[in-house]
This record gives sequence, structure tokens and C-alpha cells, in this order.
Amino acid sequence: MDYRIRFMPQDKSVKVRPGTTVLRAARDARVHISTRCGGHAGCLMCKVEADAGSLRALSAPSEAERRKLGPLLERGIRLACQAKIIGSAEVHLPEDPLKAAIRKQLERQQEDDLW
Ligand code: FES
Repeated sequence: MDYRIRFMPQDKSVKVRPGTTVLRAARDARVHISTRCGGHAGCLMCKVEADAGSLRALSAPSEAERRKLGPLLERGIRLACQAKIIGSAEVHLPEDPLKAAIRKQLERQQEDDLW
């Protein structure tokens, strides 16, 4: 049985076989997730966030993932390279820090222009 995983905010989804990592699924869906460690839970660049329902559709965190993420796991953060898909799920990719800074600057400028 295949499952469907949706990536937000890109709103792209793909069907995958059980046990596929979220990182592999993202690549299949043509959603870019940066990595530097080759998927070995070393770089922490592949963080994704899921709500409680979607967390149940992902495998239990590996020991390496527990060690690396610590309390972030309680906030629904997972490593895409470690989390395996065991049900249909939706995950959110955090906004790129540079894009977030630019967006905030643009929002401040728009507020200033209103005054
Ligand atoms: S790819 Fe490096 S921690 Fe997941």
C-alpha cells in the first residue's frame, strides 16, 4: 500500500512506498531540502515540522535523531533524512532564514510606507 505525503508551503505531494524517508519523498516531489551530511543525521539542515496526526504517520525517531533534536522532537520537528513514512502525512518546511529576513524587511518597509 502506498501513502501520500504533502509538503507545505510548496503544496506538492507524492505517493511513496512505506518506509521511504521524508527526504527521498521530497526529492521525488521535487521539493528542495538542503543537506550537507548525506542523510546521516549530522547536519540538521533537513528539519521538517509535522502536527500530531502526521507525526503518527512517521516512524519513531531513531536514536541519532533523538540525540540531535532533543526537545525539538516535542515540538513536532523531525529530520527528513531519518523519518520514514508509515502513513499519509503532511510536513512543513521551515522558511529559509535569508528569505525570512528579506520578507520581514519588506513587511517593515510596507508598514513605514503606510505612515
Ligand atoms: S541530511 Fe543532514 S541531518 Fe538530515
